[in-house]
Amino acid sequence: MKRIIERIEEEAARGFESAGFNPKYAKVTLSNRPDLAEYQCNGAMAAKKEYGTAPRKIAEAVAEALADSDVFSEVSVAGPGFINLKLKRTFLSQYLRDMGNDGELSLNMAENPETIIIDYGGPNVAKPLHVGHLRSAIIGESIKRMGRRLGHKVIGDVHLGDWGLQMGLIITELHERRPDLVYFDENYTGEYPAEAPFTISELEEIYPAASARSKEDEAYKAKALQATHELQEGCRGYKALWQHIMEVSVTDLKKNYKRLDVEFDLWKKESDAQPYIPDMIQKMKDEGLAYEDDGALIVDVASESDTKTVPPCILLKSDGASLYTTTDLATIVERMKLFSPDEILYVVDKRQEMHFIQVFRCARKAGIVSDDVKLSFLGFGTMNGKDGKPFKTREGGVMRLETLIDDIDAEMYKKIVENRSVRDKDAEETAETVGLAAIKYGDLSNQASKDYIFDIDRFTSFEGNTGPYILYTIVRIKSILSRYREEGGTGNGPILEPASDGEKTLMLQLSRYNEAFENAFAERAPHRLCAYIYELSNDLNSFYHETKILSEENEEQKRSWIALLDLTMRVLEDAINALGFSAPDRM
Ligand code: ARG
Repeated sequence: MKRIIERIEEEAARGFESAGFNPKYAKVTLSNRPDLAEYQCNGAMAAKKEYGTAPRKIAEAVAEALADSDVFSEVSVAGPGFINLKLKRTFLSQYLRDMGNDGELSLNMAENPETIIIDYGGPNVAKPLHVGHLRSAIIGESIKRMGRRLGHKVIGDVHLGDWGLQMGLIITELHERRPDLVYFDENYTGEYPAEAPFTISELEEIYPAASARSKEDEAYKAKALQATHELQEGCRGYKALWQHIMEVSVTDLKKNYKRLDVEFDLWKKESDAQPYIPDMIQKMKDEGLAYEDDGALIVDVASESDTKTVPPCILLKSDGASLYTTTDLATIVERMKLFSPDEILYVVDKRQEMHFIQVFRCARKAGIVSDDVKLSFLGFGTMNGKDGKPFKTREGGVMRLETLIDDIDAEMYKKIVENRSVRDKDAEETAETVGLAAIKYGDLSNQASKDYIFDIDRFTSFEGNTGPYILYTIVRIKSILSRYREEGGTGNGPILEPASDGEKTLMLQLSRYNEAFENAFAERAPHRLCAYIYELSNDLNSFYHETKILSEENEEQKRSWIALLDLTMRVLEDAINALGFSAPDRM
């Protein structure tokens, strides 16, 4: 459906044209004086140059031409020539009726759907999933859902970190602790056990221990490097261990992501890209892009216009080992081959920005992607604790994701039980649903690139710009709708002209859904969609407080309001679904 602002602009353009001015000046924006008008057009000022006429005169002529408009109830001129616009109530109610009947709730499906790969999540195998990974999962999932909602083909890839030193460290530590495990027996030729020799909790204890020791013990670290190398060279026993680490780890990761309602289409890993490395490097060498420098193989990616230094990409270290950069480049080769996407979007900590600048430039230089393929980096800031420092447990350790979710759920449970007398089982489930909204909305409502403070008290509050507040608004509507049905009400609509200013405000807000949603996706900015639903919720609640809906005696009016509530609820639910959470039936 056309955006309401386009409909308004078309009408304004008709005004300019019939007053004898070029319609291109009919640019309309939201009014910056909502007390005076709903929309405004400053085109008369811009037209002054072409026509040499005073803007006020132009504006007055346009206003006169629009006097009989079906779209505007009021066109007035202010100051030097601002055109203030108010919408006709009938125009607005008709727009909302169309929206209610539109299967897509007015959203415009992509005309040329794109294939977009989103690289998000990015957990590292065998390391516990901690809060640092939370943002990528939440933001990536939301952009994925928004894109799909608009008809794009979006592929989410978790891109597991399974190829680094952490594997060698775990193997080395296991070797120290249990040297008689069959995986370490070089002469063993039989099948390896199907069962892993460790549980996830053991694994999660082994890695930090090994990592700490490698920092103090040179010989140990050398062993870990050697083990990593041997694993990468295909050592049988180590590969079998790696397989176990993967299984145990991935099972646990899937459980965690499920709790977050985050779902990946692909569970690809860094190691999957390794087979593409030799050819890729050979090609870059043949083309003279990659050259040796101090034993390492590098590609220059600096450009003259750089304001900060962009160091060369190192493809191979002097010992021949490949790096994070090499893996990321090879992953692009693989993705191009398997999916030929129009865009690859990386949702990663913003501290990795330089890495991606290098990778993207190198990929273009080497022709791994063509010019029309977009490579985008969405860097997010840090999630801090109330002290303004990176979020930690009370003891100062890294907070596990599970613990964080448990804490939020417990807090939500407390509030829900305080709030009303729901049966316990019910309250627990509700607490999980609302808790997830608290976490996700708390994150998504901030511009991704900024750091934010994770504040359990604020995030779980039913008031203010929070997830629970949005859900509370939806639940409020649901309860009115069900009371309406209990009282024998059936069906709803048609939506009538707004009967009050508050109702008109709500209707104006609703009519902007497609614009808000489409822009939020175009800018890859979930926080814009959050801002929209927050305002919509405020408008709904103001309308609710000043209107006695169920006791309204005029049946037609009542049915109109019910239709308006229903439409608001559908919009809110559509939006939160795209953000990645859902609403319970009651709270
Ligand atoms: N595993 C990486 C980390 O924890 C994030 C991976 C991001 N994606 C990528 N293609 N590099 O830092």
